[in-house]
Amino acid sequence: MRAQNTVSPVVQEDERQIEAALRPTTLSDFAGQPHVREQLAIAIEAAKRRGEAMDHVLLCGPPGLGKTTLAGIIAQELAVALDQTAGPVLQKKLDLTGILSNVRARQVFFIDEVHRLMPDIEEILYSALEDFRLDILIGTGPGARTHSISLPRFTAVGATTRQGLLSAPLRGRFGIVLRLDPYDEETLAKIVNRSANLLEIGIMPEAAREIARRGRGTPRIANRLLRRVRDFAQVRANGFIDHEVAQAALDLLKVDRYGLDELDRKIMMTIMVNFGGGPVGLNTIAASVDEQADTIEEVYEPYLMQLGFLDRTPRGRIATDRAFDYFQVPRRTQFGGQPPLF
Ligand SMILES: Nc1ncnc2c1ncn2[C@@H]1O[C@H](COP(=O)(O)OP(=O)(O)OP(=O)(O)O)[C@@H](O)[C@H]1O
Ligand SMILES: [Mg+2]
Repeated sequence: MRAQNTVSPVVQEDERQIEAALRPTTLSDFAGQPHVREQLAIAIEAAKRRGEAMDHVLLCGPPGLGKTTLAGIIAQELAVALDQTAGPVLQKKLDLTGILSNVRARQVFFIDEVHRLMPDIEEILYSALEDFRLDILIGTGPGARTHSISLPRFTAVGATTRQGLLSAPLRGRFGIVLRLDPYDEETLAKIVNRSANLLEIGIMPEAAREIARRGRGTPRIANRLLRRVRDFAQVRANGFIDHEVAQAALDLLKVDRYGLDELDRKIMMTIMVNFGGGPVGLNTIAASVDEQADTIEEVYEPYLMQLGFLDRTPRGRIATDRAFDYFQVPRRTQFGGQPPLF
């Protein structure tokens, strides 16, 4: 996988620290997702008034849209502690029982990548979430017995990028299920302006808008583009980001006006030029563009489909008329014996 890809929604190792610094900490600072914000605001307020733990929350949505951010905000707004773990981190039952037996009343317990829990660990979670009970098996073999301890009521916040992979029983344990959608350009521009402010970067509103337009609806990507544009502004201009500087920097990064990069273009060109618009199988595309199939499927295709350039059909991927127009490829290019060059 090309981990350093500018428009990948997946977090890159070197940006974790800066991301933490840019995270809003209150609901009112969290831009967009009005539906999610409103539901959370009500649940938080109700729990506070009753002095009880809030219902468990499941946050679903593609990478970089704000799930981890919201988990932090929920704890902050409830004024309780936050403990966190992640599906792949919990390898043994003891890993989870250890954390749960220390959980405090009303606190938030954040489980990232909750679709990646091992089945036996997931089972422990069922009773912990539903009955606030922890069943621990003591001993082995025929003499083993279950010891049940009761837990204080707490709030579990689960996050997943792959809601479809979540088992029905686990999903059913979350009283509040919220889905995050890609951000519109205006909201993303607000986020870019806010980040620029925090990072003390001078930026014109049109420049923030340009970055937002190419940010693929994803705050993480927009924030990353902002940092790259800032580098360009410091080296090639006087540090200030106006529209022209933003455009020049983004063009240099080869991120086009829809936020598409070279690999997006290669994928689309392969389908349109080499395969006459498709249908063509994912693995064939992956081999042609020299990228892993699951990266294409999880990172690239969702956005190409969102733009209406690509359709997934049972027989394979097809390019839409819109794609032929945008990339200016004449329609009905037939796949002859010689794969054309592009
Ligand atoms: N609504 C928002 N307003 C302002 N900034 C946001 C918003 N949503 C996300 N961000 C910023 O985007 C970055 C990525 O967000 P976050 O880490 O919460 O995404 P995520 O959904 O948890 O991603 P992943 O699936 O990779 O864990 C953070 O630095 C955060 O500051
Ligand atoms: Mg996260």
